[in-house]
Order: sequence, then C-alpha cells, then structure tokens
Amino acid sequence: MISRYVFGTMIETEAILQKPEQAQGPLPFLAADEDNMSFTYEMGDSDIVYGLGENVRGINKRGWIYTSMCSDNPHHHEDSHSLYGAHNFFLVDGKEQFGVFIDYPGIITFDVGYTRSSQLKIKASDWNLEVYVITGTDLKDIVKQFRHLIGRSYIAPLWAFGYGQSRWSYMNEEEVREVVRNHREAGIPLDSVYLDIDYMVRYEDFTINEEVFPDFAAFNQEMKEQNIHLVPIIDAGVKLEEGYQVCEEGLEKGYFCKKEDGSPFVAAVWPGKALFPDMLNPKAREWFGNQYKFLLDQGVEGFWNDMNEPAIFYTEDRLNAVMEQLDEFKGKNLDTHEFWRFTGLISGLSNNPEDYKCFYHDINGEKVRHDRVHNLFGYNMTRAAGEAFERLEPEKRILMFSRSSYTGMHRYGGIWQGDNKSWWSHILMSMKMMPSLNMCGYLYTGADIGGFSCDTTEDLVLRWLAFGIFTPLMRNHSAMGTRRQEAYRFEKLDGFRHIITMRYRLLPYLYSEYMKAALRDEMMFRPLAFDYPEDKFAAKVEDQLLVGDGIMIAPVYTQNADGRYVYLPEQMKLVRFREDGSMEEEILEAGHHYVEIPLTDVVFFLRPDHLIPMSRGGRCVEDVDFEHPETIAFVKTEAFYEYYHDGGYEKDYENPEHITWIRMDQSGRIR
Ligand code: GLC
Repeated sequence: MISRYVFGTMIETEAILQKPEQAQGPLPFLAADEDNMSFTYEMGDSDIVYGLGENVRGINKRGWIYTSMCSDNPHHHEDSHSLYGAHNFFLVDGKEQFGVFIDYPGIITFDVGYTRSSQLKIKASDWNLEVYVITGTDLKDIVKQFRHLIGRSYIAPLWAFGYGQSRWSYMNEEEVREVVRNHREAGIPLDSVYLDIDYMVRYEDFTINEEVFPDFAAFNQEMKEQNIHLVPIIDAGVKLEEGYQVCEEGLEKGYFCKKEDGSPFVAAVWPGKALFPDMLNPKAREWFGNQYKFLLDQGVEGFWNDMNEPAIFYTEDRLNAVMEQLDEFKGKNLDTHEFWRFTGLISGLSNNPEDYKCFYHDINGEKVRHDRVHNLFGYNMTRAAGEAFERLEPEKRILMFSRSSYTGMHRYGGIWQGDNKSWWSHILMSMKMMPSLNMCGYLYTGADIGGFSCDTTEDLVLRWLAFGIFTPLMRNHSAMGTRRQEAYRFEKLDGFRHIITMRYRLLPYLYSEYMKAALRDEMMFRPLAFDYPEDKFAAKVEDQLLVGDGIMIAPVYTQNADGRYVYLPEQMKLVRFREDGSMEEEILEAGHHYVEIPLTDVVFFLRPDHLIPMSRGGRCVEDVDFEHPETIAFVKTEAFYEYYHDGGYEKDYENPEHITWIRMDQSGRIR
C-alpha cells in the first residue's frame, strides 16, 4: 500500500507521473516536526536500513549521514556524504517494515543513526515536500510498488550490453581504430568505444573537431561495419563564445540560467567560461534536446551526459572576488591560519554551495533559485535528451546514461557510478551500490571498471572485470594521465579474453534478467536478505549479491587473494569457468565455505532448481546466438526458466512472443 502525504507546496519534480490521492491522518512510522523541517524514526537495535541509491558505505546504510545533493565529487571516500545522484528512497527492515520516498527537489539529509545510533532523522532545507510511505508483504514487494510508482526503468539497446572501452581521452580517429584493432587482434570482445571531451572543438557541445575526425559520419559508419558503436560525451556547460552557434542561439532565446539581475550566469567548466542551459524550462529543454540531432544525424546511437550536477570549476563572479582578496596576501608571512585561508579561497572556487544560490530557473514562468531545485538539473538534462530521442528517433533505442540523477531520470537513461579510483575498496563500493541503485530504478548502471583515477594494476582490472561482467553497463574507463588499462595492454591476455568472453556467454541470461526486471519493476541485483528473509546470516552479507533469478555472485575484491569466504544461504551449485575453456561444477552445502578463485577464473553459484541460458560467446553482441541458448542447471526436482529474448532493438517490449519457457527435469532433459 502506498500513502502520499503532502507538506507545504512542493516544486514539482515529475518523479511520479500519476500521484495517488493525498492521504488523510497522521504520517505513519515517521514523526514529522515542521519547526525543524524534519522527520524522525526510532530504529530497533537490529533494524536494517536499505536504499539511498548512489552513496558510499554499506548495503545497510546505518551509521552515517547522507546528503542528497548532486555533487561533482571525485573522491568517493568513506567520509563522503554525497555523490552525483539524489535518490531519496529507503527501506526499513526490522521491528517494522516499510519504505519511504521523499519527493523533494532541494538538499535533504538522511542521518541514519549517525548523531544518535537509534535514530533515523531526515532533514529538509524547507517544508515543501511530499512523502510516500509504502508497506507490503516483504522487501521485494515494497520495492516493486515504489518502482511501479516512479515508472518503468530505461531500456538500453542490446549492443550496449556488450563490453565498452573508454579513456579520457582518445584524441583522434587513428587512436580509436587502434583500440578496436587491438581488441580484435587479441580476440577480446568489444562493442563500443567512448569518446571523451577531446572529440569536440574546444570542448564545445555538439561540435566535432575535423582536424582529428575529418569525416565523422564516415568514421562512425566504418566502426559500425566492425560492430563498434561510438559513444560521445555531452557536457552540461555550453561554452561561452562568440560565433559558436549553440551559445549564440541559446543566448538569443534566453535559454540559459540567469542571475538575479537577468544577466546570464557564467561559470567555468572544461571549455572555460560556460553557460548552463535551463534544463528546467520546458522550452529550453526541448531546444537542448534537439541539439543531439547533430550527432544522431551522423549515425551516433549512444551518449553519456556528464558534469550535470552541474559541476562548476569557478564562477566568473567568485573568481573576480577571490582575485581581489588574494592581493591582501602578497608579501605577507602567512601563519598556519592565514595559509589555510589562502588555500581555502582557491579550493572554495569549485562547486561552492553559495554559487548554487546565484542563479535562477524559469519553471513555466516562475523564477526559481537553483539551490531549491538543485537535484533536478542532471535529471532534466538527460530528460531533454530522452524526450528528443523519442521525437527524433522514435523507433530506435538510444544508449543514454548520465552522471547526475534524481528519481524520474531512471525513465530516460541509466547512470554510471562516476569518478572512482583504481582501488580495491572501490570494487566493493560498486557492488554495494548495485542493489541500492536498483531499488531506486537504476538498472542500467556500472562503475568505471579498472578505476577512473589513480594507476591501476593488472590484477585489479581482472578482478574488477570478473565482477563487471555481471553489471548491465560494462565499461572500462580511466582518466588522462593514469596508467593505461585497456585489456590488451596486460600480460595475462588469455585471462582477459576469457573473462570478457564470459560476459558474452552469459548475455542471454543477463539480458533476459535485465528485461524482466525493467518490465516488472523488479531488482536485478539484490542483497541476500531480499530472497532469504528468514536467514539471519544472509542479512549481514555485504559482499555477495543475487543477480537475477538464478545466481549468486561473490566477487574477489582484495589484492593477492586466491579466493574468499562465501556464505551460502542454501545448497547451491558452484560453477567455475577456467581460462583453458573448461568448466567445473560442484554442489556445496548451505553455510560458510572458503572458495578458491584464481585470478582468471569466473565463478558463480547457481540456486537449486534453477537454470540459466548461455551462449558460446562472440566478438561482439551481434555474434551472440540468443536463439539457441545452452543451459547450465542445478536440478533437484525440476527447473524452469522464463527466457526473455527480443531482437534487442525494437520497442515492443510487452510482446508475449519474447518469452519462452525452458524446463529441465532430473534426467537433464530440456523441454
Ligand atoms: C568527468 C567524468 C569523467 C570524464 C572526465 C572528462 O570527470 O566523470 O568520466 O572522463 O570528466 O570528460
């Protein structure tokens, strides 16, 4: 059951398309305190709190304070309070069981037992919000109701479930060709190459630097003939420059965010001084969305939207003010405090919360200060693109994922998990985020495999890939200046080829599970407790996940490990694929096991009476045979599999012909 409670007058977020009637009577579970603009809940000692989407720390969110404030935060340290998304949904599981979604476009904090260990306290920046309280038969049911409320999750084209290679930056066509050639020569499957900011002219959105990509449409076609999709980045900030058409047109039409005095708000990002399209103004949104046509017309079928928190390196006004202040430090003997004040002035230039109070949106004629709707900016940038794709290419599925997001954006695109580091702990962080993101509607997601910043190591990339083969977005991405981490650059080529090929072998299962989760508002990645609610050990497991209906994964995320402890909530079949092409199966009893997992093995656990469809792999998604799946099964009495398989590109998702049932009895016969 879903009840909607209204406090004040919320600025509409459109997270929810069809709102239930407003509930009468007091808010259940939470105590509302209008004077402090907060809600509190007294947690039981063993209550678990799930959710909050993209955030650091545990699957169980207890013990920290999280702030929904979309942030360009390249340091996903444990002490971070905010990353790029604002996902205000959580689930309490303990003495009571319920879910809460706070629909609120501004900055809001969730103190989950940080200040007082027994108290969950939610504090908004003003008292204009809507609260949805959801109860149900179990955790999965509550999530399903929430997901139904917010609408169907984005569905990517099939090729986008292949492996993608990215790096900031491949500077020209020849470099891209080389990346593709090296993968193909090494027999490492590949479906996409991402173009970071250097494909543009001076970082100007919707331009192509013809010095390095002389005929982009032809090059894109050349790549497509090799089954490679090019995926260019689009940044939120539009370069401020005379003669640059997008800038001039946007200025002329008044489509950029403005300061209080009506002049354009100027902030610097990659291109230097830039303007932010007013993504919350429907006309500006339509106009910005239409710009994607420039690349669609050249055959592009996928994009990633970046820097849309929006990230600000500095604003024109603050930079001028700081420059003046710096004068007073000249020639002085700076003591500790003075020196900190000095460095603080410089570091405070970027993403300064005060700057988010200095510009305005035009929301259907109403002037709204940005900080009140901060969390809607990236969402509406991606919505601009998604709505444009519907207008411009209604028949096609276009790949779209964003860095920043708010609930509602999950209908238009996925997200990637932002600028992580080549750290072992970040494999685990990404694993923990998967179910939290799935709860909030983000199914098409994954991390920068191998780590974005810092120098990676061969074993880290291998272990990360062995987890990444399960995430719908499987992309290797790294920052300029770091050690290169394309799979073919390392010694253990056979191992890389094997692990990445396993993704393609598992694709019939993974795609089928993705589609069913999207169409039925379910979670593809689940904590163990969601499927084994009676098992008190399962509730504590933070480093294993259920992926789809049939399998559990337990990735290795520590260096120099030759395996790891795995907890089995019931008897399962361990399935191991070795680099030499062999496969081993072993039935393990419920309980704790030490499982050896050499660096290049792919291991997962099959649940009893389940089977999964697989393929023989291929060099790219196009090569994968979805029609005649092979199966791996753990049959005790009888196993069924509901196999969803469509062409991967059309949009008749609900067509019953996409479903076939595979059934296996004890004798191993398939029917
Ligand atoms: C941001 C993105 C990153 C990208 C870089 C350069 O940091 O998060 O993925 O490579 O910008 O465009």
